Amino acid sequence: MDIKKLLSKLTLEEKIYQLMQIRAYTYLYDSSLNIITGPDTKYGIDEKYVYEVGTVLNCGVAENMIKIQEKYLANSKNKIPLIFMQDVIHGYRTLYPINLGLASSFDTDLAEKCAAMAAKEASVDGIHLTFAPMVDLARDARWGRVMESSGEDTYLNCKMAEATVKGYQGDFGKYNVASCVKHFAAYGAAEGGRDYNTVDMSERTLREYYLPSYKAAIDAGASSLMTAFNVVDGIPAAGNKWLVKDLLRDEWGFNGVVISDYAAAYEMINHGFCEDEKEVAYNAINATLDIEMVSNCYVLKLKELVEEGKVKESQIDECVLRILELKDKLGLFDNPHRSTSPEEAAKFHVCPEHRALARYAATQSAVLLKNEGVLPLSKDIGSIAVIGPLANTGEIFGNWFCNGRADETISVLDGIKNAYTGVINYAEGCSVSRESTDESGISEAVEAAKKSDAVILCLGEHQFDNGECKSKAFLDLPEIQYKLYREILKANPNTAVVLFTGRPLTIRELKDTSPAILNMWEPGTEGGNACADLIFGDVNPSGKLTMSFPYTVGQCPLYYNYYTTGRPKVSDDIKNAYVTSYIDSPNGPLYPFGYGLSYTEFEYSDFNLSGDVMERGGKLTASVKVKNVGKYKGKETVQMYIRDLFGSTVRPIKELRGYEKIELMPGEERVVSFDITEDTLAFYGSDLVKKAESGKFHVFIGKNSACTHFAEFVLK
Ligand code: NOJ
Repeated sequence: MDIKKLLSKLTLEEKIYQLMQIRAYTYLYDSSLNIITGPDTKYGIDEKYVYEVGTVLNCGVAENMIKIQEKYLANSKNKIPLIFMQDVIHGYRTLYPINLGLASSFDTDLAEKCAAMAAKEASVDGIHLTFAPMVDLARDARWGRVMESSGEDTYLNCKMAEATVKGYQGDFGKYNVASCVKHFAAYGAAEGGRDYNTVDMSERTLREYYLPSYKAAIDAGASSLMTAFNVVDGIPAAGNKWLVKDLLRDEWGFNGVVISDYAAAYEMINHGFCEDEKEVAYNAINATLDIEMVSNCYVLKLKELVEEGKVKESQIDECVLRILELKDKLGLFDNPHRSTSPEEAAKFHVCPEHRALARYAATQSAVLLKNEGVLPLSKDIGSIAVIGPLANTGEIFGNWFCNGRADETISVLDGIKNAYTGVINYAEGCSVSRESTDESGISEAVEAAKKSDAVILCLGEHQFDNGECKSKAFLDLPEIQYKLYREILKANPNTAVVLFTGRPLTIRELKDTSPAILNMWEPGTEGGNACADLIFGDVNPSGKLTMSFPYTVGQCPLYYNYYTTGRPKVSDDIKNAYVTSYIDSPNGPLYPFGYGLSYTEFEYSDFNLSGDVMERGGKLTASVKVKNVGKYKGKETVQMYIRDLFGSTVRPIKELRGYEKIELMPGEERVVSFDITEDTLAFYGSDLVKKAESGKFHVFIGKNSACTHFAEFVLK
């Protein structure tokens, strides 16, 4: 398709309508020409241009997509196909674990495969682009959207971002979808962990910790990018010229489609940044925002701005060109239905192959937080009590569930039934609701626990208590769940808690008193089978936490790579000594970033650094011997952290700079090595230029971010 020629044929109005995104259902549910009815009248779309709108979101199933595209093209003057966009976040119909969980696998190949599976299911249902990956750095467990992220570490976020984009987009083949990385930028730093709240940080922090994951997604080829709801240095992202034009376009060279978040362009008025729609349109177009998601400032005001000479038509042309190019890249001009196929949707959705991948992914994502020998359970024991509000429900697939379904999700109870032939005693015990105080089910649960050889107790958050606009000021389990837990533990100490959550929780009591805790996160469609694989030891847990679990909510935001201070707290024994600390809580987490146990034991020894001086352009190698000294085959993610002791700006106490996931048989050992180059040591110093500064460094290798063993070297 000759895109430039096509562009030259469009009137100014038609071009402006390409920049608008409305909901797909608008086209589905009203057969009259004037389809903008009900809540959608707020779009203020001129009837003449209804069928010239450029893109739609939140689509639906294959049959609908075909209808919508056909109806649109039949009525459209220019016959430029719509792009269908949707949030395909952790699967489409087959759901794999939430992203925070999947990242706990530290397995980028797995993340790529899962994204490719989601793309396949979505593409045959007519989706052309997914609003994913969400790569916002997430340091605050109060924020509900941490579940969509890959957690608190920039290095891991970059790896996951890259893998996910590759999985979605592949080579832009039939079963791929375009990827829209989001939310640019720093949405994860909302103050107080309260969704949509203000964000404020230095440009150095932004560049050092928050921006790299968006850049990694773009470098991996992401076709599109979504701006955030929040301000960046006082200016809402959707109209932030420095952020979008100067940094993203000019400095990074991104020429893909930039879309606002839902109504976020219009919300610049609520922010108090723009007085009216005209100011919104002016600021957004100057920032080079291409698509306004479900608000109407462009269609209402851009023409006027061009006529007044305040905006050049060429600015609009550039945006339209980017959108048309994406349509062309997706092959929509040749085949507006692309890969949409109800038959293939029926074939691929929740097919055995996809279920198998989702099940494997859920086993790799789970994190064993504690185990005093309760797990794994033998399948030879006579009876198991399966208890808890999350034991007999499919509602463990996780929020942002796209077309996933509870009735297609394997509950823990069903998973255990599938794996175990002994007696199962089930009781719900209590409700998962945060408000519930109903204790009436506890006695039945206690009876079930008493008459069983072991108990699997499923506790946690309701799956819709995390996600967008699900910020929390309390991070513990509801008291009713603790009441149930205490009674069950008294009735049968051979109890393992299986936790379902979309965020780190403050589970101090569980840590102190429970014999075993297996964190499944929100594990997806095959959650129950995966849980059974783990509790019976068919799969050995190997996930490592992607976010620190706080000791108490008052520590949030909490992350392992904090800066040292003038008054560091060097030991937990120090009380009240005018060092940075709390008088009523430790500084450190309940469980640190990178933490996770196994049914086997890994012993680290023979730590070695190839030299203690690194020349410019040179390389050192740090290595460690890891031996499986336990009874089970197991996987271990060996982590390397670096500390720069003195810099032109202060440096974190330690930063992840490499990891390797290995699998060892009992008795097997392997040397794991990490190369250290200038790149490994580089950071944004006082001049905001990324480079390695000369001086002393420490290199740590260990099982998690709390590792203490290090060697020192000097960069010349
Ligand atoms: C708002 C969310 O912030 C964003 O992540 C999502 O892609 C859009 N809604 C569209 O659903």
